[in-house]
Amino acid sequence: MKRLFLGIALLAFAGTAIAAEAPAKPAANPLKDEMWHLNAAFKGLIDSLVLQTPGDIAGPFEEVLKAKAKTDAALEKGEIWLPKNNDRKDEFRKMDEESHGQIEDLIKNSKKGDMKGVQELTHKLFDGCVRCHNTFRR
Ligand code: HEC
Repeated sequence: MKRLFLGIALLAFAGTAIAAEAPAKPAANPLKDEMWHLNAAFKGLIDSLVLQTPGDIAGPFEEVLKAKAKTDAALEKGEIWLPKNNDRKDEFRKMDEESHGQIEDLIKNSKKGDMKGVQELTHKLFDGCVRCHNTFRR
């Protein structure tokens, strides 16, 4: 009986570990949903940089912007709860707007085939993931 319980606990633990590594599907929370789109778009972006395929970049990031619009609406209604420093919403909003601008520039540059510009924005976006997560994600 004890062993069965341990087995179930281990399975549950393995399940959360996998979920934390790669969210499998869009979540109900609009911010998590946006992050799921952003995560997929960003990974595709790395491939596009390495393989020099600018045409693959814009589509997934346009989906991110659609998801972001839903997050912004929820943020305005006070429906977003940040796992860490939830009282620093203004700072969150600023970082969020900054990454929004970078995504718009990224889409423009990719459509022009300006891969140098794409690369610079990739670095900026990546810094943004880490910076914002350090402050607002537990
Ligand atoms: C403006 C802030 C901000 C930026 C920029 C940001 N994130 Fe996030 N991200 C968050 C917050 C806050 C959470 C935690 C959401 C929660 O647990 O409710 C999160 C969660 C996530 C998650 C986990 C989602 C889940 O289902 O638990 C992934 C994956 C993720 N972000 C990827 C990225 C990537 C990749 C980038 C950069 C390209 C990025 N994020 C940029 C704020 C940000």
